[in-house]
Amino acid sequence: MNNTIAIRGAITAENTRESILCQTKALLEAVLMANQVKIEEIIQITFTCTKDLDAAYPAIAARELGITEAALMCMQEMEVVGSLEHCIRIALICTSSIVTQKTARHQYLGEACKLRPDLATFSLALDGPAGAGKSTIAKRIAGELSCTYIDTGAMYRSVGLYCIQRGIDYTIEALVNEALEDIHIDLTYENANQRIYLNGEDVSEAIRTQEVAASASKVATYEKVRIALVEMQRKLAQTKSVVMDGRDIGTVVLPNATLKIFLTASSSERAKRRLMEYQAKGMEVSFETLLEEIEARDYQDMNRSVSPLKKAEDAVEVDTTSLTVEQIVEHIIGLLKQKQ
Ligand code: DC
Repeated sequence: MNNTIAIRGAITAENTRESILCQTKALLEAVLMANQVKIEEIIQITFTCTKDLDAAYPAIAARELGITEAALMCMQEMEVVGSLEHCIRIALICTSSIVTQKTARHQYLGEACKLRPDLATFSLALDGPAGAGKSTIAKRIAGELSCTYIDTGAMYRSVGLYCIQRGIDYTIEALVNEALEDIHIDLTYENANQRIYLNGEDVSEAIRTQEVAASASKVATYEKVRIALVEMQRKLAQTKSVVMDGRDIGTVVLPNATLKIFLTASSSERAKRRLMEYQAKGMEVSFETLLEEIEARDYQDMNRSVSPLKKAEDAVEVDTTSLTVEQIVEHIIGLLKQKQ
């Protein structure tokens, strides 16, 4: 049965044609994706802009997205003292066989999350070198806050694994760029655990080897690889609350993250942690080899020209060397609550 529903959304923009159109597109895409609405199901969209946005009609963005049948209307939002500036609001009416008015997911993105704190999503960016504790901490926080954990390193590892499986020399950038077109990565969640699929094959375990880690670190230096994966990562974070870990989350992927954390630990402590992980899986490897690999990866991750690993200016640095997982999780959740 088809329901007729109305979905609300809001976002902020700068007063340029480019920004208004770009932000309106991001908002429309978020509304459509979160509610699984198809373009042909849209009946009508009302757009309002605050008085300070007059460089373009936001409806143009809808047309550019292919929304050409629906009735579109742009208006000026009423002026209320102290209300959010530079704001674009939408009310979208559509039919849906999936979503009801009760389950509709309204989208208040970026700064506009202040308009509906009851619906607000948040994003937590967790960056840092290999072995700093990012994935352990990210999983625990996502579990405690019932939000989605996105392991971006797993995506780079999947690209590396693809090359290894096909005998593609991943040290040659042009070969990896060429392969990129044939690589499809999907993330799914089973009992809140992320599973990663490479061209339909579950590679969640296969990507956790030292060989794949080394290949991931190499392919992560290639601009085309980063552009493709960053786009995917941003889309994943657009419609829900996320804890995302990686190397460039706070600096590149989510520059407007609600909170940015930069996790560190001494290289010997990180090698010790990796050793325990490998031993738990029954894999034999020496502490010295792991220390050497960690230091080599740090060097590669920090010195590449594209999106090197570095602390975002507004990130909070947390040294995990002598803290327990519980202490770190509690500290970060406390910081996040202050920001919301
Ligand atoms: O976190 P990890 O060990 O799974 O990451 C694998 C490699 O991918 C690591 O060497 C750095 C790279 N990476 C990156 O460059 N940017 C990210 N956002 C995540 C990982």
